[in-house]
Amino acid sequence: MSSQRDRWAELTGGQAGEEYALRFARLAESGHDIHGEAAFCDALLKPAVRVLDAGCGTGRIAIRLAVLGHLCTGVDLDRSMLAVARRNAPDQEWLHGDLARLDDLGLEPGFDLALAAGNVIPLLAPGTGPAVVRQLAAVLSIGGLLVTGMGLDAEHLPLPEPTVTLTEFDQWCTQAGLTLRQRFATWDGDPYRPDGGYAVSVHSRSTD
Ligand SMILES: C[S@@+](CC[C@H](N)C(=O)[O-])C[C@H]1O[C@@H](n2cnc3c(N)ncnc32)[C@H](O)[C@@H]1O
Repeated sequence: MSSQRDRWAELTGGQAGEEYALRFARLAESGHDIHGEAAFCDALLKPAVRVLDAGCGTGRIAIRLAVLGHLCTGVDLDRSMLAVARRNAPDQEWLHGDLARLDDLGLEPGFDLALAAGNVIPLLAPGTGPAVVRQLAAVLSIGGLLVTGMGLDAEHLPLPEPTVTLTEFDQWCTQAGLTLRQRFATWDGDPYRPDGGYAVSVHSRSTD
């Protein structure tokens, strides 16, 4: 495990699973679409493929992707989040692990898509971003996609300020053999705007 705690653990103390799930359940009850990320990935993924939900949390997205026919593995460090995922979808694969040490989990490589949604990248432990991107790239097939969604300002983050810029993130991706293919402002595919405060990025693995 990383010696430093990830920022999500710092924020929540590792006890946020039930509360996080309730927040999305309430949003769904009040008519909000809580499946934007899953629909976005599904549109990239015809036919059904292997997906790694990196920082899967309570499994909100991986469970939806499985309903849509994809084979999903969820990985997260927060046991309270994973407990919700396991309760809601006991037949899916949920692994406790650190994305910075993904190789410890012995995953079979060849994922068609790795997803880090819900600010997983800005919430990583300080200094671990390049290693996490490298590890995610390593489990992708050639041509496989890394899909990320991240806030770029305080309004779009559960943090007082951004922890990574898109320029830095793209550098980590380039160093890991990933090429930027598409960038949007939202999970609905609205055009990316530099002042929009949020980016959904699609990188692809181009090299071994
Ligand atoms: C805001 S939650 C998002 C959960 C889910 N992706 C979603 O969108 O509903 C961020 C998640 O990232 C996970 N996380 C942060 N750093 C991690 C790491 N190094 N390894 C695994 N998971 C990590 C946290 O435990 C937390 O569950």
